[in-house]
Amino acid sequence: MRCQRRRGVGKARNWRDNEMTSLKTALVTGASQGIGRAIALSLASSGYSVAVCARSEEGLEKVAAEAREAGAPDALSITADLREPDAPARIVNATTDCFGGLGVLVNNAGATKRGDFLKLDDADHLDGFALKYHATVRFCRAAWSELAQSEGVIINISGVGAHTPEAEFTVGGPVNSAIINFSKALSKRPENVRVNVVCPGHIVTDRLKYRLQALAGERDLSLDAARDVMCADLGISDFGDPQDIAAMVRYLCSAQAQYITGATFTIDGGVTPGI
Ligand SMILES: NC(=O)c1ccc[n+]([C@@H]2O[C@H](COP(=O)([O-])OP(=O)(O)OC[C@H]3O[C@@H](n4cnc5c(N)ncnc54)[C@H](OP(=O)(O)O)[C@@H]3O)[C@@H](O)[C@H]2O)c1
Repeated sequence: MRCQRRRGVGKARNWRDNEMTSLKTALVTGASQGIGRAIALSLASSGYSVAVCARSEEGLEKVAAEAREAGAPDALSITADLREPDAPARIVNATTDCFGGLGVLVNNAGATKRGDFLKLDDADHLDGFALKYHATVRFCRAAWSELAQSEGVIINISGVGAHTPEAEFTVGGPVNSAIINFSKALSKRPENVRVNVVCPGHIVTDRLKYRLQALAGERDLSLDAARDVMCADLGISDFGDPQDIAAMVRYLCSAQAQYITGATFTIDGGVTPGI
């Protein structure tokens, strides 16, 4: 863990400017790479101090350095396995000690196992919920009083599997649905904390690259050809970029989104078949 500049932001409450709402300090989970990294850097470029957490110290240090370069007044990296029950409270405390408060919490960390339902055991299901669902609940609980004081924002990253069940996604789908239900319930609390959900579709990160490599191997295709096949099967023109998700998160943190809470936003290039 490394706090760059402890007194950089101060304890200002209800801080607002024309562009962004809430105290300009953010905690992003699962930010050592992929979507979490893009969210952290996007908020950093809007002047947020950012705390990033995941297991990879090297990845986090790199993202923290990138955040400072992008404009974050402070950057804090905290290494933890978020499946451990005491990790979220420890991380929230370290973040508020370092930044003097919290304006934004983004629960992004997630890694659920895909595959044949009959080959997935209890441990696979419990592990998927331990990271993405239970850590989200624990982070929200640990951060709630700080967010209530700052009239802050929670954004929980779910996924299109929440609305479109798949035979190969019997862990991730239910986890993502549970995140939406939980977030809606939390948004109904009386404190002024806005709680919203973003559901990514097929976004190019390591998770998607592994799926593409598997498809290329199964069908003896190049990676580019596997990409074309997967997009055609899904009925989309291309995959998304982590920036596409980060842009929506950034908007939801802004004053323009001050009337938006309890909502779920799907960013999927049109892959979701239903309405
Ligand atoms: N990419 C997509 O197409 C897609 C689609 C739908 C939903 N999503 C959701 O979007 C979120 C981000 O996905 P992504 O594609 O960016 O994934 P990713 O590239 O695999 O990144 C996952 C992040 O979570 C962290 N993480 C994993 N296990 C952890 C653990 N036990 N403790 C702490 N941190 C952990 C990873 O860091 P370490 O390995 O260093 O711990 C990494 O920073 C996930 O919740 C995912 O379900 C993604």
